[in-house]
This record gives sequence, structure tokens and C-alpha cells, in this order.
Amino acid sequence: MSHRRYALIGAGHRAQMYVDALIGPYADDAELVAICEPNPVRAQYYVDRITAAGHDAPAVYAPADLERMISAERVDRTIVCARDDLHAELIVRSLDAGADVVVEKPLTIDAPSAAAIEDAIARTGREVVITFNYRYSPRNSALRQVIQDGTIGQVTSIDFSWMLDTKHGADYFRRWHREKDHSGGLLVHKSSHHFDLVNWWIRAEPRRVFASGGLRFYGSENAAARGIRNRPERGTPLGAPRAGDPFELDLRDDERLKALYLDAEQHDGYLRDRDVFTDGITIEDNLALIVDYASGATLSYSLNAHAPWEGYRVAVNGTLGRAELDVVERGAVLADEGLHPVLDPSAVDAGTSGSLRPEGERLLVQRHWEAAYEVPISNGTGGHGGGDALLLADVFEGPGDDPLARPADWRDGVRSICVGIAGNRSLETGLPVHVTELGIRLLEGDDVRTAPAGSVRA
Ligand SMILES: NC(=O)c1ccc[n+]([C@@H]2O[C@H](COP(=O)([O-])OP(=O)(O)OC[C@H]3O[C@@H](n4cnc5c(N)ncnc54)[C@H](O)[C@@H]3O)[C@@H](O)[C@H]2O)c1
Repeated sequence: MSHRRYALIGAGHRAQMYVDALIGPYADDAELVAICEPNPVRAQYYVDRITAAGHDAPAVYAPADLERMISAERVDRTIVCARDDLHAELIVRSLDAGADVVVEKPLTIDAPSAAAIEDAIARTGREVVITFNYRYSPRNSALRQVIQDGTIGQVTSIDFSWMLDTKHGADYFRRWHREKDHSGGLLVHKSSHHFDLVNWWIRAEPRRVFASGGLRFYGSENAAARGIRNRPERGTPLGAPRAGDPFELDLRDDERLKALYLDAEQHDGYLRDRDVFTDGITIEDNLALIVDYASGATLSYSLNAHAPWEGYRVAVNGTLGRAELDVVERGAVLADEGLHPVLDPSAVDAGTSGSLRPEGERLLVQRHWEAAYEVPISNGTGGHGGGDALLLADVFEGPGDDPLARPADWRDGVRSICVGIAGNRSLETGLPVHVTELGIRLLEGDDVRTAPAGSVRA
């Protein structure tokens, strides 16, 4: 792989994984030459990190100057790490200006912008790589291997439930994620990870989606109905009284959050710590879906964003048996005793004996007429059981010949978000939605890469 010149677009929380890779293990293959970021404090945070590691300072550009940046800095590839609803514009502008793109999930949040990305790819012939880090978690790879090996036969249905706890789940209700216009809601922002896993596990394409759900826990109305009132606007008590409960996020308690957000908010008014029980939340916190696949399989899926523990359960039924993956990422969110006005301390104690829900993972396979057995999961070192390092190697060194087909491109991005986008439409209409109704050519069986060069939507 030749030496590539990179520009980071969006220098917030997620950017760090890419910056650290570029100034660390991939510094010989790649160079981070520019940062495109409107907030000067966040841009400087990463400039300082890069120079502290002994590298040249990247040039900083405003988003309006993205094209000028790509040409002046001779950028080969941009890394798009901005808010979800900005991805499409930033991808299309990067492609048109002559750079390939690496983009964080989700590819984008709605159908028209996905179609615009598709058109730009057809027009420019350039590459868009999407980073689906969950595929690389050893436990998720192990399930793909079981299914790919044919151990459970042909997949007939999947039962998948995902629990986000009151620590991690609550965090989606504090900043831009809480607004559907910015994130597509959890069905797009979060579940696109899960829908990609299903597409990839069973190697099938989603066709029809029915969704139901709503906002039932977070937000001012739900809080008021439970007697929770007079919440402060934000968790960092800048002169205001503390609400005094575990849902508060005080940015001053975390050096990185303070540097990236609290110290930066004077420039753009971006509040990282809005209270989860305030007005203005337009996303759901409880969701259920039925998805039909072209292969004939059916998925039943649920997401809960206020669970007392975090993890997921997936069961895959096949013609020869069943595989079950159970993961507990956090067995309990333990409240600081005395802080929470409504928690009974004895309930906290019961939670502490969390051995009833130990953290860990288990993949069980059971074939018809046979005893169940556990499939070993071999974790490596580093984030996500070594998965992050494998992902970054595929992104920065180029995808190897992976028997599990983990590297993903924009097509996988489209096939994952189409479930959430169709699900959002189903939530609005109360009806099932066929993905061919979304106006994205790939979903109609027309891969723009097989169309004549330069072909664009009629
Ligand atoms: N794969 C994962 O597990 C994972 C985890 C976290 C975030 N993400 C994704 O990464 C992306 C970034 O999330 P985050 O938490 O870092 O968000 P963030 O809000 O912390 O960072 C986004 C940055 O983009 C900047 N920005 C705003 N407008 C811009 C523009 N027009 N052009 C360029 N930059 C602009 C903001 O100032 C901010 O610094 C999102 O798409 C999110 O879904 C993925």
C-alpha cells in the first residue's frame, strides 16, 4: 500500500481512534496532513496531540474550505467523523474534490442523502470505506464462522435483543443523538451496527421492515409522569443547583470531556451534557422490528436504551440447529449510594452481588439431536477484544484476503441503514416498508459500480 495523505473531517470524540492510529502504528504508511473542523478548540486539541507525539502539525481548515484543503494538501483520503447528518455532504464533496473516503457508521441518516452518495460514487468512480468495528469483535466473528461453516444449516430466523444501560444508553439523550434530524434516531445511529451484523452474519439482504416503538423513559414528559420535575438544563452545574442523581454528567469530572466540549462550547454552543429529562428529544428509547430478508429469513429485533445492564442476546435458528450468543458488557450500573433520591439502598446492594449477571460472553451451538457445546472465543489485546486493531489494519493497510469478509464498503453501509430508515418510515406510517420504496438504486438490484462509468440517476 502506497503512502497516503489523510485529512480528518470532524475532530470530536470518535476522531481519536483514527488520529492515534495515524500517529502510531500506521505512521509509516500514512500521514495526517489536515484537519477540517469548525471548532478551533477541538481542532487544536488534536493538533496538540499530534505534535506532542513528535509529528508535524496538520493544517486546520474550516468546513467551507474542504475542497481547497483537498487540493492544497494533496489529500488522498478523508476520514469523516462528523455528526451523522453531515456525513453525506462531506462524503460527496470529498469524492467530487478528488479524495477517497473512510466514513464512520452510519453512512448517512436518510434515503435521499444515501442516493446522493450513490450518485457521487457512480460519477467519480472513487472508494468509500465504512468502518463497522463490531464485525471485528472476536465473538461476532466467531458467530459468523459458525454460520458460514454451515453448522446450523440454512438460517431461517434470528432473534436479537440489545440492551443499552442507564449509563451508556442515557448518553444518547444528551447531545445531537437525541434529535432525529441529526442522528436518524437510534434505529439508524445505533442499530445500523446491529443490522450490519445480521446482514453480514447471515449473508442476506433486508427486504421489508415493520417497526414499533417510542420515547417512554427519557424526556420531560416521561419524567414528569414519574414525578421527576425541575431538572436543570445540563449536568455540569455551572451556578445551577445539582439534580443529584446518576443521570447527571458533569463534564469537569473528565479531563477529556472538559477539553473537547466544555472548554469548546463558547465557539458553537454545542452542549455535551444536556439533561436526559429535558424537552427536545425526538428519538425513541424503546424499539421493536420485524425484518424479512431476501433469503427467506426473518429477524425479530429489539433495542432498549434504559436497561439496568448492558449487552446483547442473539439466537440464530437454522435448518440443522441453533446458535446463541449471549454477551454481558456491564452487569449493572451501580448508583452512588445516597446520590439517587429514588433508589432503595437495599436494591443497590442486591445489584452489587452482580455475580447473578457476570460480565462475559458465551457462544453456544446446538444441532438437532445433539448436546449443546460452547464455541471458544479467542480475544486479542486492545479495544473490543483486539477487534479495533484488526479493523484499523484493514482500513490503513488495505483489506487482506479475509475469509470472514469483514472489510465493508458503502454498499454494506446502505444495506445497514436501509433497515433503520425503513423502520423510521414504518414508525411514522404504522405500515411495513419495503426497502425498494426508498429510492436507492442498490436496493433495487442496480449496483452503480456495474453501470457504465459516469452513469447518474435519471
Ligand atoms: N463506530 C463506533 O462505535 C462509533 C462510536 C462513536 C461515534 N461514532 C460515529 O462517529 C461520528 C462522530 O461522533 P462523535 O461522538 O465524535 O461526535 P462529536 O460531536 O464529538 O464530533 C463531531 C465533530 O464534528 C465537528 N463538525 C461539526 N460540523 C462539521 C462540519 N460541517 N464539518 C466538519 N466537522 C464538523 C464538530 O465540531 C465536532 O468536533 C458519528 O458519525 C458517530 O456516529 C462511531
